[in-house]
Amino acid sequence: MRHFLIDTDTASDDAVALLMALREPSVRVEAITVVAGNCPLEIGVKNALISIEKAGTYAPPVYAGMAQPLLRELLTGEHVHGQDGLGNQDLPYPALEKQSGHAVDMIIEMARRFPGELEIIALGPLTNLAMAILKEPALPDMIKRVYIMGGGGLGPGNITPVAEFNFYVDAEAAHLVIQSKLVKIVIGYDVCLEETFINPSDITHLNSLGSLGEFVVRSVKTVIEYHKSLGKDGFGLPDPTAVAVALYPDIVTKQFDAYGYVEYKSEKAYGQFIIDQLQVTGNPPNVTAITEINARKFKEKLFQLLS
Ligand code: BDR
Ligand code: CA
Repeated sequence: MRHFLIDTDTASDDAVALLMALREPSVRVEAITVVAGNCPLEIGVKNALISIEKAGTYAPPVYAGMAQPLLRELLTGEHVHGQDGLGNQDLPYPALEKQSGHAVDMIIEMARRFPGELEIIALGPLTNLAMAILKEPALPDMIKRVYIMGGGGLGPGNITPVAEFNFYVDAEAAHLVIQSKLVKIVIGYDVCLEETFINPSDITHLNSLGSLGEFVVRSVKTVIEYHKSLGKDGFGLPDPTAVAVALYPDIVTKQFDAYGYVEYKSEKAYGQFIIDQLQVTGNPPNVTAITEINARKFKEKLFQLLS
């Protein structure tokens, strides 16, 4: 059995990602740690608890983590995910509660509990993970690998022309994590833009699946509006794409190892993930960059896990 910890700034696509991971019987989510990003911290915690209840399988402990990026003011994503992070559904607080204890400590504790076996899926800004590395420098040696949804991959940024939201919110933390000795698999925003994009007929299909599919469509209501404003019909699922790569490694159709770094000193390129595709820096690869997955399989798995 594979052991996962999911670090998330739970809004709409994070919620879908949690549903998928919690409903995949071949893995175990040992803990969920929440970081501020898409929403202020406590809204993210509430949404993580709602997602667990909706998944209806088992309830991993949920821990709140960093409420602010390392150095910058928090930038949130209500313009994409809604005021409540879930498409403005304004759901009541769930019966489940978060655990006491800090997410940063729990990342370290889980790594000790499953030495060499813990796999982390990071779906938000990397503040919690960066703090855990600062607190326990041996952490990278204790963790099997980290799947990171972050950076624009080989495509455009989604918050500035060159930066993707998760890396932009806390580029200092992203820099620290990318430069660490962790084994890193990075899934860029570009992977959810083309064939994996959820189109109108996929939305009809989701709605036909029953309560979970309908919950997903309601949760992404404002994301659909956001994409409409960009001239696109449907919505992307960056975090579920990262979870699919983690759950089903053979879903990947294009990947390469490279040296990558996160720009955090420049104003205009703040948060840009730069991938040295032609090895011009001469630095050894420090990430595996995923640039394409099998879209048909992705949608099949998504529909199956939500059924
Ligand atoms: C990432 O930012 C958030 O909007 C999503 O949850 C995802 O993690 C995409 O840039
Ligand atoms: Ca996220």
